[in-house]
Amino acid sequence: MVTINRPDQLNALNRQTIEELNKALSLADVNPDIRVIILTGAGAKAFVAGADIKEFAAFSVEEGKMLSRTGHTLLFDFVENMNKPVIAAVNGFALGGGLELAMSCHIRVASDNARMGLPEVSLGVIPGYGGTQRLAHLVGKGKALEMIATAEMIKADDALSCGLVNHVVPPEQLIEKAREIALKIAKNSPYAIASAYRSVLSGYKPGVSGFETEITEFGKCFGSGDFQEGTSAFIEKRKPVFTGQ
Ligand code: COA
Repeated sequence: MVTINRPDQLNALNRQTIEELNKALSLADVNPDIRVIILTGAGAKAFVAGADIKEFAAFSVEEGKMLSRTGHTLLFDFVENMNKPVIAAVNGFALGGGLELAMSCHIRVASDNARMGLPEVSLGVIPGYGGTQRLAHLVGKGKALEMIATAEMIKADDALSCGLVNHVVPPEQLIEKAREIALKIAKNSPYAIASAYRSVLSGYKPGVSGFETEITEFGKCFGSGDFQEGTSAFIEKRKPVFTGQ
């Protein structure tokens, strides 16, 4: 589990936090003992209350562009393209960059007191960490355009009904629920999960055919140790022991 630990600032994402998250997640991504990552925020109040407004308030046009690009590279695209599933355990406010981070994760579980939104236009800026794209992918264009323009927060139940989160549970069950999902994932082939995720995500990339990626990835699985193990275990009527190779 990776915990964003700046609770006195509601875990707002400044440059240092983004760099530290990149380091922690990079290590987790290459550690063969880790199959699934749960990402959450410290404290009872917030997952992440957004990008650090105090840090960027005086930025120039070029600095703003660089902030967005660096964030995409180090954290938001990085998380989405990791080789392992990342589950966001949304334990409170997920606003702006906080919701964008949760949306970069592959699975979202929220506590029933969580509040989510993209309030950037209320500050005179737009979501710059992938929110204009990923929100529309998750909830549909119509709902995304309303959420972005009103800048309003929605409650966990509304987030569940529009597909923004997968599960809503009481706060005390949040990590348990995320772990329950992680355990189900950990039984399966890490190689195949990464391959399937690459296929799904490629369909959202302009100019890339998700179907073609799927065909290539499907074929590649046949050369993996996990495929040998999974099919042998089925035939031998035993549980597979996957290594991710
Ligand atoms: N950037 C920098 N600091 C932030 C922050 C952010 N995005 N969100 C919260 N903080 C800081 C506050 O400035 C405050 O710091 P201080 O004690 O040094 O003054 C601390 O976190 C606690 O927040 P506070 O506003 O006092 O809590 P609250 O319960 O009254 O309100 C929120 C909670 C989430 C509604 C409110 O903090 C907020 O609106 N945050 C900004 C959300 C936002 O616009 N995010 C998008 C950024 S692009």
